[in-house]
Amino acid sequence: MPVCDAFHRVITYLRVSVTDRCNLRCRYCMPGSGVKKLPHKEILRYEEILKIINVVSQMGFKKVRITGGEPLVRKNIVFFIKEIKKIEGIEKICLTTNGTLLPNMAEKLYKAGLRHINISLDTLDRKKYAYITRRDAFGQVWKGIKRVIELGFDPIKINVVLIKGFNDDEIVDLAKLSFEYPLAVRFIEFMPLNHTQLEYGHCFLSAEEAISRLKKLGKLEPIPSSELDGPAKRYKIKGSLGEVGFITALSDHFCPKCNRLRLTPDGQLRPCLFSNREWDLKTPLRQGANEAEIKRIIEDAIAHKPKNHGYVKFISRRPMSWIGG
Ligand code: 5AD
Ligand code: SF4
Repeated sequence: MPVCDAFHRVITYLRVSVTDRCNLRCRYCMPGSGVKKLPHKEILRYEEILKIINVVSQMGFKKVRITGGEPLVRKNIVFFIKEIKKIEGIEKICLTTNGTLLPNMAEKLYKAGLRHINISLDTLDRKKYAYITRRDAFGQVWKGIKRVIELGFDPIKINVVLIKGFNDDEIVDLAKLSFEYPLAVRFIEFMPLNHTQLEYGHCFLSAEEAISRLKKLGKLEPIPSSELDGPAKRYKIKGSLGEVGFITALSDHFCPKCNRLRLTPDGQLRPCLFSNREWDLKTPLRQGANEAEIKRIIEDAIAHKPKNHGYVKFISRRPMSWIGG
């Protein structure tokens, strides 16, 4: 049966970070040398993650998102998705990827039953892409996006981190992708996380500012969001095939609707992105805990989900690539 937290929020959504590894080095996420890697033995095996998903499905969870690091760098991810598909109650499986490996993997993912995909793309300029991600992979990502459109993934969301002085001159062009293709282009406010290499004060650009720049494309008609939707404020612009959206991570107005828990690659449950408190599932799993015991720990994590993050400048003990955005 559905589980409520202390603030009457029904928790139905698990974000699973399957790896801390990534083949890019985005400046807003990590230094060029990368961040410290989790030892291999600390990372949950698929069967351990599946056990957890099984338990949450019995608790009324309906949606699972696979994130990273970059989830497509983990071996046998297609097998993992097929296994999640088999779990009763999980109605929606989504994947967040940087898109670099999609040219080869999109079809296999589609065949495994995946339909919902989020792809990060902060610029349409190959040189700027190489600057922000420190890898010359724009061509691959673009090919990957074209491929998922052809295959009919739906929705296909493009995540754009708003960075003043970097992509503020491309806001209109990026939004225009939703006219040419059936894409949901989502602008995400930059968050000052501790491993970021960009200066927050210089780089922050508000969603409000981005919205005002888009007005010249036409009127932004609000799209009501449904139960399993994320925190994006969504809009349709007349004449577009897709939509645009805005994610304002720092303002805490979406906390009252937050329905998610996060699972880190090393098996820690995190009720809030902006709180370092974690509940260990790996140790009990490896000590042979049964489903009822795992369920009790998850219930305890849910009961302690903070009301909001009262954000000032949050210092995460973990890099973002260890939590999964
Ligand atoms: N600010 C905002 N979004 C971030 N992401 C990673 N680091 C940051 C940050 N500092 C998000 C990006 C990327 C996803 C994987 O994580 O949206 O697309
Ligand atoms: Fe990798 Fe995502 Fe971090 Fe970029 S933001 S380095 S794609 S984990």
